[in-house]
Amino acid sequence: MSETQSILVLHGPNLNLLGVREPQHYGAETLASINQRLIDLGQAHGVPVTCFQSNREYELIERVHATLTDGTAYIVINPAAFTHTSVALRDALAGVKKPFVEVHLSNVHAREAFRHHSYFSDLATGVICGLGAKGYEYALHFALAQLQPAN
Ligand code: DQA
Repeated sequence: MSETQSILVLHGPNLNLLGVREPQHYGAETLASINQRLIDLGQAHGVPVTCFQSNREYELIERVHATLTDGTAYIVINPAAFTHTSVALRDALAGVKKPFVEVHLSNVHAREAFRHHSYFSDLATGVICGLGAKGYEYALHFALAQLQPAN
C-alpha cells in the first residue's frame, strides 16, 4: 500500500466528448481542461489526483479494483450512462469499500425518467448533480477535507 493518499477521479462513457457533446446539458469545457483544474487543486493541497476516463465498463471496473493497492483513499466518480445501468460497476465500488462522491454535470432529476435512478447513490457519501463542471470541484474539495480534516 502506497504511503501517499491520493484521490481518483473516474469518468464514464462519452465524457471524453465534453466540449462537443450536447453542451446544453454538459457545458462547453473539455474533459482535459476539467481534469487539469482538479489535478491543480489537488496539488495545491499536496494530494495527488489521478483522472481516468473510459467508454468500457470493464476498464472502469478494473481501475476501481486497482484502488486496493494504489494508495487511493477517496473516489470522485461520474459514471455517466453506467449510472443507470451498471450493477457491475456498483459492485466494484462496494467491493473495494472506498468512499466516493457521485457527480453529474446535468441535473439528472430534471431530465428523462430513465436518468432518475442511480445504481450508485445509496452507496455514495454524497451526490452532486446539475452544477456543471463545478460539481467535480465541489466533490474534490469535500474529498480533500475528508483526507485532511485540519484544512
Ligand atoms: C451524466 C448524466 C447521465 O444521465 C448521462 O448518461 C451522462 C452524463 C451527467 O454528468 O450529467 O453521460 O452523468
